Amino acid sequence: MFETLLYEKQPTGLPGGDIVWVTLNRPDKLNALNLQMRDDLWAALDVASLDPDAGAVIFKGAGDRAFSAGADISEFGTAPSIIDARRARQERDLWGRMAAFEKPMIAAVHGWALGAGCEMGLLCDVRIASEDARFGLPEVNLGYIPSAGGTQTLPRLIGRGNALYMVLTGDPIDAATALDFGLVEWVVPRDQLYAKAEEVALAILSRPPAAVRKTKEAVLRGLDLPLAEGLKLEALLAQELTATEQRKKKQA
Ligand code: COA
Repeated sequence: MFETLLYEKQPTGLPGGDIVWVTLNRPDKLNALNLQMRDDLWAALDVASLDPDAGAVIFKGAGDRAFSAGADISEFGTAPSIIDARRARQERDLWGRMAAFEKPMIAAVHGWALGAGCEMGLLCDVRIASEDARFGLPEVNLGYIPSAGGTQTLPRLIGRGNALYMVLTGDPIDAATALDFGLVEWVVPRDQLYAKAEEVALAILSRPPAAVRKTKEAVLRGLDLPLAEGLKLEALLAQELTATEQRKKKQA
């Protein structure tokens, strides 16, 4: 279905729906994110969003060595012009789309997760790493700044000091440090990575789906608000959820 991704659905029989496994599939290039992969990810998110049976998405990387080594550096500087590059980005804001994606997303990370590969994980809701995972935002070494959201998502997740350490040195951290920093929620042996990701997905999918959806919305939207506004948002979403549930009960 996609040139650079595998898109596989795993039925669960749970109220939340099925698991969609999206595998970044350029193992010879350490799953570097080229333009084609970004287009494919955009389309895969469309499919997962529109498919009512798709309940949660797990991202993983093909091959032994990497989740993803980041943006494809062989494509750097190949856009016809800076204006074209900026227009393409605005028309298809993949990272913004991931940041606002309504269904739960889990990153199952092994090996290298660099640059946009690391940032993709940061845009997911839960990150699970295997013991061999290494995370880094090396853009500064190349004279760039992270541009798949990393300067914003990383400090929100791991705090200002740890984030600045990572983005200003560009040095990768190992899985144990990532756990210590709060960059990942779990570290497991390599052979248990996908079982753990599946376990987390199944737990979420077994909960009432409307409550899961609203809860994710409350957390994601609330993070950008002052506390008082966030509390109002939470109350509003709770009311909406109750009203929807009552309507459903009356209809039943
Ligand atoms: N873009 C394009 N190709 C990449 C890539 C990337 N980001 N990362 C790795 N590759 C390719 C290599 O060119 C190589 O391809 P080849 O076999 O056709 O020559 C293949 O993947 C394997 O990589 P290699 O560098 O040989 O593996 P390694 O084990 O020696 O090193 C890394 C692994 C991750 C340390 C190293 O590949 C690296 O630094 N990659 C670039 C990371 C980066 O800067 N990402 C962009 C952030 S903005």
